[in-house]
Amino acid sequence: MTFPPFEPYRSRVVEPIHLTTPEERAGHLAEAGYNPFLLKAEQVMIDLVTDSGTSALSVAQWAAMHGSDESFTGSASFERFAAAARELFGHPHIIPCHQGRAGEHLLARAVLHPGDVVLANTLFATTRQNFEEAGAHCQDLPIAEALDVGSRHPFKGNIHLERLADYLSRREEAVKLVVLTVTDNARGGQPVSLANLRAAAELCARHGAPLWLDAARVAENCYLIREREEGQGDRAPVEVAREVFSLVDGLFMSMKKDGLGNVGGVISCRDAAWAEAIRSRLLVSEGIPTAGGLAGRDLECMRVALHEMFDTAHLAWRVGATQRFAQLLLAGGVPVLEPVGAHAVYVDGRAFCPHLPDEQFPAWSLSAAYYLASGVRSWESGNVTYGRLDPVTGRWRWPELDLLRLAIPRRVYSDAHLAFAARALVELHAHRQRVRGLRCTYRPPALPQFIARFTPVESGDGVA
Ligand code: F0G
Repeated sequence: MTFPPFEPYRSRVVEPIHLTTPEERAGHLAEAGYNPFLLKAEQVMIDLVTDSGTSALSVAQWAAMHGSDESFTGSASFERFAAAARELFGHPHIIPCHQGRAGEHLLARAVLHPGDVVLANTLFATTRQNFEEAGAHCQDLPIAEALDVGSRHPFKGNIHLERLADYLSRREEAVKLVVLTVTDNARGGQPVSLANLRAAAELCARHGAPLWLDAARVAENCYLIREREEGQGDRAPVEVAREVFSLVDGLFMSMKKDGLGNVGGVISCRDAAWAEAIRSRLLVSEGIPTAGGLAGRDLECMRVALHEMFDTAHLAWRVGATQRFAQLLLAGGVPVLEPVGAHAVYVDGRAFCPHLPDEQFPAWSLSAAYYLASGVRSWESGNVTYGRLDPVTGRWRWPELDLLRLAIPRRVYSDAHLAFAARALVELHAHRQRVRGLRCTYRPPALPQFIARFTPVESGDGVA
């Protein structure tokens, strides 16, 4: 028997699910411009669009929120949050902000300048956008296995150490920041190993380059280290995490993912000058440094989560549920990206829809067809999100991976919900020729996945 044998919590507030028919969903999807992100939540039966901001809160979180201090400045809620964060991260400077990308924005504006270089395993879309808007050149350095859908490498999130060493020796002056995104959301939610983190930290220290984490899913990454890395099996996830935090100069973290919050983010760092620069920026756009645009109750909620997110039973159940979901899909022939991570199951859009060319966005079109068939909302991490128009050739450059992401909110859905979602995708796979390609009718210049609009390709249509 796997442990824990059932959800390590019970529900005492429930939220009814509005049931829809395929005919209703066809109308909803057309109205949303075939962008599942633009559907209304009540039009969705099982929402796997994101694991961000969608957690069910615990009794302890709600209780702490009721005891918050809402003073404008210097609130006790901030003091309590900062003390807990300092104790966990081991860095002196704790700066709250309203969500992950606010932290990225503050960091970018405070420390990056045109011509600076940022190296990473893979930057998430908002991080890259924020850093590039500050004028930095961003270079992802994933390992080769991360780009190979057939590879079973246990730590596909690792940064390519030889390329990192090479960049650092050639461009030492220009490299302003090295970021490890844990886990690597953009390329399949894959973890970074402790060995890779240690080696990257050593290289960065040798070249005087600050090493930071995008820590949005650091607890899940540490749980996967414990599960997969030699010699780590006896350590509690939080023990692994303490070592991880000791290796880095700072981190920015959306507290809406592993941080079990509906809102919130945090920056934690060692360098006093960087912290001061970030606080100065924060005063302009986020609020005051002891609130970061949050209410005292949000800080209380985050404080409790700093502890809850490392609970071994919580992480074991969550990772187990994701694995079981993936097994159902794999058994039904769905091309799932392996090994499966913690927060989501990723499906290879191109392998699922071999009849669709890249210009018709296989994973995105699959997401639309899946919603129509089942009422399950998923999201793309592929051609729409990461495709770029090459300014020189005028042609589209498609990412190595065109993925459909089924992200699982924390403490929200049962195995029965996930079994339904799996059955529906397996059925769609059996009739995959029915997935119709889409053509983009509106694409904004930045972060298109949130607002782009599409229409089905008619037979005889050109592409994109
Ligand atoms: N970093 C990573 C790795 C993320 O996955 C996200 C958000 C962010 C930063 C930005 O944080 O949303 O709090 O501003 N990911 C969401 C998702 C949108 O669905 O994966 P945020």
